[in-house]
Amino acid sequence: MLNTSSDNKSSYWAVPSIISTLAIIGFTLLGVIGAASAGDAEIGSQKAQTCLGCHGAPGLRNPGPVYEIPMIGGQHSSYIISALKAYKTQERGHPTMRAQAANLSDADMADIGAFFASMDGNSRPGLSNKALVAKGKEKAAACAACHGATGDAESDAFPKLAGQYKSYLIQALKDYRSGDRNNLIMSGQVKGLTIEDIKALSAYFSSQGGGLSAPESKIFKKF
Ligand code: HEC
Ligand code: HEC
Repeated sequence: MLNTSSDNKSSYWAVPSIISTLAIIGFTLLGVIGAASAGDAEIGSQKAQTCLGCHGAPGLRNPGPVYEIPMIGGQHSSYIISALKAYKTQERGHPTMRAQAANLSDADMADIGAFFASMDGNSRPGLSNKALVAKGKEKAAACAACHGATGDAESDAFPKLAGQYKSYLIQALKDYRSGDRNNLIMSGQVKGLTIEDIKALSAYFSSQGGGLSAPESKIFKKF
């Protein structure tokens, strides 16, 4: 159906569009880093009071589908900010978190991100079937470049997975697969995964010791 002139047009635009895509990625990263460095954990502790009703008690669950509410204590602040932005712009589907993020300004997100990121990790590796964990470890080689070998990502461009709740990791991976979470990088990563792969990967990462926490009173005494 394409005629020659539109073919020419699309190849003519290919190079500028790659350059502008790279520029957008670059600016987005700069924006995230800039916002993260401006956050104030002390102010964030005040702004995060509502969040603690769900993220401040280990083992609380999302009502349906049922999975544990993610630990965000000890997570990279740049990732907390970008996740909140994704709920606000509706790239992520979760209705409660969309509502929570809707009224947060960039400064609020930076302060809240700094507050949660300042917490020590205390996640206790979950118990999992050894064979499943071993299968997940093999599959996890494909994830290591970004998330680190055990999921305790050193680079703050990527979320920490180590010690996160298994039920939450399964849900997040399913949501990238279904498009309920719309993220270019992760939707490419999950494309070839079966539900068995997802369960094995989640068993592996959740069973690693790591830097995440569902804040408990010990950590809160600081604030
Ligand atoms: C009513 C419970 C509830 C409240 C209140 C709540 N959250 Fe959440 N939060 C959740 C659930 C459930 C998820 C997982 C959503 C999903 O599956 O995408 C989540 C996900 C997140 C994530 C993404 C974590 C990740 O690993 O990707 C961040 C960041 C977050 N919440 C921050 C906050 C902040 C900041 C507040 C307060 C302004 C807040 N939440 C209030 C329940 C809650
Ligand atoms: C090229 C880098 C890259 C690779 C490789 C990669 N990821 Fe990710 N991952 C990301 C980024 C970036 C995000 C944040 C996406 C977002 O904002 O929703 C992410 C998010 C996630 C999340 C959501 C975490 C949370 O707290 O909600 C999970 C789970 C995850 N990745 C698992 C995996 C698994 C399992 C693999 C290997 C099969 C993998 N990733 C490979 C970059 C990568």
